[in-house]
Amino acid sequence: MSTAFKTYQRAKDLGTPAPDVGTKLILLTIDGEQVTVPEGTTVLRAAALNGINIPKLCATDSLEPFGSCRLCLVEIEGMKGLPASCTTEAKAGMKVTTQNAKVAKTRRNVMELYISDHPLDCLTCPTNGDCELQDMAGAVGLREVRYGYAGENHLDAKKDTSNPYFTFDPSKCIVCSRCVRACEEVQGTFALTIQGRGFESKVSPSQNQPFLDSECVSCGACVQACPTATLSEVGLIEKGVPERSVITTCAYCGVGCSFRAEMKGQEVVRMVPNKDGQANHGHSCVKGRFSFGYATHKDRIKKPMIRETIHEPWREVSWDEAFTFAANKIKGIQAKYGKGSVGGITSSRCTNEETYLVQKLVRAAFGNNNVDTCARVCHSPTGFGLKATLGESAGTQSFDSVMKSDVIVVIGANPTDAHPVFASQMKRRLREGANLIVLDPREIDLVRSAHVEADYHLQLRPSTNVAVVNALAHVIMSEGLEAKQFIAERCDNDGFKAWKDFILDPVNSPEHVFEETGVPPEVVRGAARLFASKPNGAIYYGLGVTEHSQGSTTVMAIANLAMCTGNIGREGVGVNPLRGQNNVQGSCDMGSFPHELPGYRHVSDAATRALFGNEWGVQIDANPGMRIPNMFDAAVAGTFKAMYIQGEDVAQSDPDTHHVTNALSSLECMIVQDIFLNETAKFATVFLPGSSFLEKDGTFTNAERRISPVRKVMEPLAGLADWEVTQRLAQALGYPMSYTHPREIMDEIARLTPTFTGVSYEKLDKLGSIQWPCNDKAVNGTPTMHIGEFVRGKGLFKVTPYVPTDEVTTRKYPLLLTTGRILSQYNVGAQTRRTENGKWHDEDVLEIHPHDAEQRGIEDGDWVGLQSRAGETVLRAVISERIQPGVVYTTFHHPFSGANVVTTDNSDWATNCPEYKVTAVQASKVTKLSDWQLKFAKFTEEQLGHLNRARQPENVS
Ligand code: SF4
Ligand code: SF4
Ligand code: SF4
Ligand code: FES
Repeated sequence: MSTAFKTYQRAKDLGTPAPDVGTKLILLTIDGEQVTVPEGTTVLRAAALNGINIPKLCATDSLEPFGSCRLCLVEIEGMKGLPASCTTEAKAGMKVTTQNAKVAKTRRNVMELYISDHPLDCLTCPTNGDCELQDMAGAVGLREVRYGYAGENHLDAKKDTSNPYFTFDPSKCIVCSRCVRACEEVQGTFALTIQGRGFESKVSPSQNQPFLDSECVSCGACVQACPTATLSEVGLIEKGVPERSVITTCAYCGVGCSFRAEMKGQEVVRMVPNKDGQANHGHSCVKGRFSFGYATHKDRIKKPMIRETIHEPWREVSWDEAFTFAANKIKGIQAKYGKGSVGGITSSRCTNEETYLVQKLVRAAFGNNNVDTCARVCHSPTGFGLKATLGESAGTQSFDSVMKSDVIVVIGANPTDAHPVFASQMKRRLREGANLIVLDPREIDLVRSAHVEADYHLQLRPSTNVAVVNALAHVIMSEGLEAKQFIAERCDNDGFKAWKDFILDPVNSPEHVFEETGVPPEVVRGAARLFASKPNGAIYYGLGVTEHSQGSTTVMAIANLAMCTGNIGREGVGVNPLRGQNNVQGSCDMGSFPHELPGYRHVSDAATRALFGNEWGVQIDANPGMRIPNMFDAAVAGTFKAMYIQGEDVAQSDPDTHHVTNALSSLECMIVQDIFLNETAKFATVFLPGSSFLEKDGTFTNAERRISPVRKVMEPLAGLADWEVTQRLAQALGYPMSYTHPREIMDEIARLTPTFTGVSYEKLDKLGSIQWPCNDKAVNGTPTMHIGEFVRGKGLFKVTPYVPTDEVTTRKYPLLLTTGRILSQYNVGAQTRRTENGKWHDEDVLEIHPHDAEQRGIEDGDWVGLQSRAGETVLRAVISERIQPGVVYTTFHHPFSGANVVTTDNSDWATNCPEYKVTAVQASKVTKLSDWQLKFAKFTEEQLGHLNRARQPENVS
């Protein structure tokens, strides 16, 4: 890869957004040239579209025009004065002159005023070479400042460096308001205002606070919008203007934002959200834009390591020795304990191609179906529930669909923290007037935040989702609000009749379930009427739905609710699971489940087995393999002896930590492929260094089934990309794999999977991204599913009785613990804990209602022991009214907090997805750490010692 200097080019800015979709074109004349543009286009944009760049400062194409800087003025025949081209709509027959002596002089005067109050440090300014103010000074031909620089100015204004990722230098501010508008229009946080008037006006975060202490969530939209160096990325300040950029996809959450990785040599200078990104349209959150430093963190392990047992030091070895060692162990164990004594776990953080290879290795080289994925612990009920009712196990819509929704229901999801870019889009639609219904035990941000307020918040008790969703449907059906024609034409008649009889039973009425759910009947009735009364109702849900003993039942109840209101099969409606990790959709699509080959085809189907078996040159086992919990149980029982885990940290993420770590310690061989020595790797005997998303090619599939390209921007730090590691392990096991590039793996997936037959790297390059199914029937993909007909033919209503969980409160455990995520951290935190994001969240805390805290003598900041029947941990208390009395809440981003020491082995009846969201606990004030935490600290110290000894030069073979 060349590191030679190239001229840096920022993405083209057309000045104002595209007009709302309209097909009519108009003809006008700009500088004597006839140009055609869509009706509603501004003069500024019309000129830019035709290669004429009118100078501008306050306008940018991600924001509505504002018309404050007066730099973009033009002459228009028949119009008085010099109108601002950014706020003037182009009209048919208009004659525009963008440059003449009068226009030029006025622009120079404007620029002169700006520059007279601007530091003259261009040569040493961090954005030298990437500054619109500098460019505009050149564009208008400013050569002198007649007023001098000695007048009243802002040059001494103090710089704010409180935010770890960007600085705010008000001495360079031209008060164009682009930052304020970006925070409002794009992000929807409203953290910035312009305080004061005239010369006194200045940008102010919240109540004139430092950025870090303000309401700012560090999305960076203001930094991207700023045309000067006032708001500048620290990466740019430290590394200088980038040389090249590569389009790739964020490796954090299931929104799947597209980015331009802006590079200098092998270093990332900054990540800039891609304006053409079809999931994010140029926006991002703090994680995708700023939190990429983990990729080159000093904790990265770059050499393979092996050891015989977990109580001895690691030995750094060559790749060849590591593969031979691992393969010999697997072969030896299979010879001794049988073919089924080994298995693998694929990763929802890795690419589709890598995940496909791991399940192929398990099925073809291990010779069994013992493969599972972390979707087991998050969205497996989605797959089950949506497949049973709609016929396809994925979400039905594009994110953009929300812009056509009239009423939005959010169930058990916290989009502003877990899916922030989609949350910004949803909030935009809500500000436009769509209604909002939230079902959540906590008062999540969406319930009440700047310019957004839920019409109904159904603050249900954890574990009662099914009862509340059934009650909503009961009201709709009993009041005759259902979509009769849709049901008659699109749904299975027998299924509907059975469901109708069930749902009309008074046991499902809001009044009957009130005592159980805690949601007042009139609130349920109001919400149901609102949902049924609007033309387009969309449902979004998250892990607060799936991670329950009745997770699959709730998913089916949600599908019933959508079908009975006719909210499937067009834009603005649908059932939309908000997938947690970047590629959790993809890992499921790629055949990571023990009973399904890629494309969700059951292993018991002989034709499917023959298809894959012929391509792979093996006989595929017809029996489903073990799920993750079964593998752990079998390991503890002594019948399961080896695992290959790629990019997952089950020791931290899976419930009932005692059981998981017992299982991992019982294995004879554990092969972990990861970028860090995570909690699971501390139990490994083979460590194969992984590669970050910046170091490899492949694809991720987001929550809207959108397959997006992941492109290598730097060489793998350990020498091999993840797909190459799996391939070499397969070869060492004696199974031939010989791909030369991940595109060949995608070609194989497309050959074997009907929903992917039209997918190729060439098409991805052409279209930017593709939503599956993509095949002969949908050559460019499928944004909206179930149009005209459900994938399964007729939509199938399923009877969804409410069955209370066994995990009930008792005198010993009188509180219910529920868990969730926070914006600045991601999942087990292995990546985000190795960035500056700890500034916002450096420990997991226990949120407790003031009433419960008072009863226990707990004050804000006290250490609290949290006990369940599974285990005990200690966390710091935060007293909060966001949760209801009787419920406590924590996150699980830090291993030492041990949230999963407390969660139990209860799980969804259909899929074994753990019931993370409901654990009966007691909380009490304590003064010392739990026994588990003391043991954890000791084990961690031992394992870090083993790692450090391996890194001594004399131990490297
Ligand atoms: S900080 Fe930047 S974007 Fe905001 S008003 Fe100042 S110059 Fe404009
Ligand atoms: S970083 Fe985002 S949230 Fe913070 S002020 Fe800027 S636009 Fe607003
Ligand atoms: S919203 Fe998700 S995909 Fe987008 S930048 Fe943030 S973490 Fe990345
Ligand atoms: S760009 Fe049009 S007034 Fe500023």
